[in-house]
Amino acid sequence: MSGSNWRASAGTSLRGTLAIPGDKSVSHRSVMFAALADGTSTIDGFLEGDDTRATAAIFAQLGVRIETPSASQRIVHGVGVDGLRAAEGPLDCGNAGTGMRLLAGLLAAQRFDSVLVGDASLSKRPMRRVTVPLAKMGARIDTQEGGLPPLHIHGGQALQGIDHTLDVASAQVKSALLLAGLYAQGDTIVREPHPTRDYTERMLHAFGVDIEFSPGYARLRGGQRLRATDVAVPADFSSAAFFLVAASIVPGSDVRLRQVGLNPRRTGLLQALRMMGADIREEHAGTHGGEPVADLLVRYAPLRGIEVPEALVPDMIDEFPALFIAAACAEGPTVVRGAAELRVKESDRLGVMAAGLRTLGLRVDETADGATIFPGALGGGDIASQHDHRIAMAFAVAAQRVTGEVRIRDVDTVATSFPGFAELARGTGFGLG
Ligand code: S3P
Repeated sequence: MSGSNWRASAGTSLRGTLAIPGDKSVSHRSVMFAALADGTSTIDGFLEGDDTRATAAIFAQLGVRIETPSASQRIVHGVGVDGLRAAEGPLDCGNAGTGMRLLAGLLAAQRFDSVLVGDASLSKRPMRRVTVPLAKMGARIDTQEGGLPPLHIHGGQALQGIDHTLDVASAQVKSALLLAGLYAQGDTIVREPHPTRDYTERMLHAFGVDIEFSPGYARLRGGQRLRATDVAVPADFSSAAFFLVAASIVPGSDVRLRQVGLNPRRTGLLQALRMMGADIREEHAGTHGGEPVADLLVRYAPLRGIEVPEALVPDMIDEFPALFIAAACAEGPTVVRGAAELRVKESDRLGVMAAGLRTLGLRVDETADGATIFPGALGGGDIASQHDHRIAMAFAVAAQRVTGEVRIRDVDTVATSFPGFAELARGTGFGLG
């Protein structure tokens, strides 16, 4: 697949008040749980991204009526936990690991068979982390060689609850097991090595499910129903992250990001940037759809390199491309450890970020589970995003500190999580064509 490219170069200092699109994780779950509920739910702030639209389209294929009265809004006519029906053909999750892994859990518990497929990147991502524990519950899912998609899910299996400790900290795996657990005999308990985002637990509770949870632990009883409820999706911290870093590294910048979701399991980058000396203040703190939100006011500040605390890694798992750029523009090296999971995201984010920064003239030493970034003057170059949305946006940010031009290849996947990024960035002062 070849796609669009960006030519990015230093613009002006960054200014403005920005509205960031809805949270991807919350949007996926909102449509899934509303579809399974009894009654009609309205979702506001739904992310109009390719990933989340793919999930909505899959539920339509499974027999759920979903209306779009206006952009970022959905009205979902829930069919109840037992109301999904077999789709005609394969269900295409696009680029979305969240879509595929959560659906694996849900569809393994249905009476009918399903096939889950994805794009070239998703087709290389590991699925055994869900299929193995689901098999322990009694699910039957065939993968391709090496545990890769497509997933052929055989319905009609009676599932048993399990008490399972995850091998890797993964909200996607936890959520897949909890969704299967809704249909299982007895209790399903998931324990995590490090706490991960708890949107599934919080949202199932909001949909009336009796679920017990605390950081690193969740337990629910099978056989429960969901009650329709309206969902207000907060702005996605992971999308805001690119502007947090950009305004921190471009002299003279002063940006306000309005009402960004600040779930503590998502905001590790905020802590890391503050350790580096970033000037980020919070104003108008409140809650939105049960999630903490606040305006983030970011001003340029000279950054210094840090050793990123390993305990922060799960709370900033999607923010490493942005962090690498902050590190590239800091004083002194930044060390990342305990982040091997980055190698199995939409791309191998350690390898691809290291390669890109080297192209721009920096030294980056890579290890199996991390990297050391040595900052320096950034020159222009040609960057392969490897069709990874966050790599493309990270290098658009880096380009704002480059002498010369950065050409960023294959940026179409930016629409998976942040449609409108380029327009918003240009309006703020980015040099981006
Ligand atoms: C997500 C969980 C994380 C994250 C992904 C979204 C979710 O993946 O990287 O972008 O919505 O549950 P893992 O659970 O595999 O770490």
